[in-house]
Amino acid sequence: MLENKTILITGGAMGLGEAIVRQLAAKGARVAIVDANIDAAEALVAQLPAARAYRADVASAADMEQVCAAIAADFGGIDGAVNNAGVGGEFGPITACTQANWDRTIAINLTGVFNSLRAEIPHLIAAGGGAIVNMASVAGVAAEEALPAYIASKHGVIGLTKSCALDYGAQGIRCNAVCPSFVKTPMTLAGIPDPAIWDQIAASHPLRRLVTAEEVAETVLFLLDTGGITGAAYMVDGGITVR
Ligand SMILES: NC(=O)c1ccc[n+]([C@@H]2O[C@H](COP(=O)([O-])OP(=O)(O)OC[C@H]3O[C@@H](n4cnc5c(N)ncnc54)[C@H](O)[C@@H]3O)[C@@H](O)[C@H]2O)c1
Repeated sequence: MLENKTILITGGAMGLGEAIVRQLAAKGARVAIVDANIDAAEALVAQLPAARAYRADVASAADMEQVCAAIAADFGGIDGAVNNAGVGGEFGPITACTQANWDRTIAINLTGVFNSLRAEIPHLIAAGGGAIVNMASVAGVAAEEALPAYIASKHGVIGLTKSCALDYGAQGIRCNAVCPSFVKTPMTLAGIPDPAIWDQIAASHPLRRLVTAEEVAETVLFLLDTGGITGAAYMVDGGITVR
């Protein structure tokens, strides 16, 4: 039951995070949106009375420690977390991947999940256990052309998810990952502006359509709420990784 549970979500201001926030709020959860874009987070909170917005950069361990302490104080604890914040990185194969692109993508997508887990876990233990969902990607189980830093970061997120499940299961913490295929969000629409490319991407899925942000959010809520599943990486990919 998510009703009256306090759920922290990073990157909750827009895109997949916003869809997850809206579904959590509809289930009666108390939602703490942690985002680098505080203006966007506050604009969303203005529509959702049970949510609050917090500014933090997941790449900063200090930010995540401070924000988790603030959320626990404001809400009286933390029951669950969705580590969703991420960036796409720049296109190009390994020899064209700049140090800056590698460092930024790994710092946000992989170290950001590590920073988030390290800050969240003591609060979940204090609450007697809880559930965590990390946002990986189909890029966490298979490579795509010309995205080496993103691919490496998302494979790492699945590894961290398994590590967390193994080390904290005895303390009542479940940790799972979700692996979406291409979903139209501010991130992907900026990277792929041409509608004809989106049509091709949709047709390449066995379902012959794109996955929606709402479908990703439904899977995140299922993994937060259900028991018995930990260390898993759930594909929400329209079947694109079955080949
Ligand atoms: N959209 C897709 O097709 C897709 C597919 C698979 C996985 N994902 C993953 O889902 C997650 C969300 O993606 P999206 O498409 O909704 O992106 P988005 O850019 O639309 O939204 C990302 C959110 O994260 C926040 N954010 C970015 N960097 C941050 C940081 N350093 N600290 C705190 N907040 C930060 C942004 O402000 C924004 O609110 C990412 O981890 C992404 O890799 C997306």
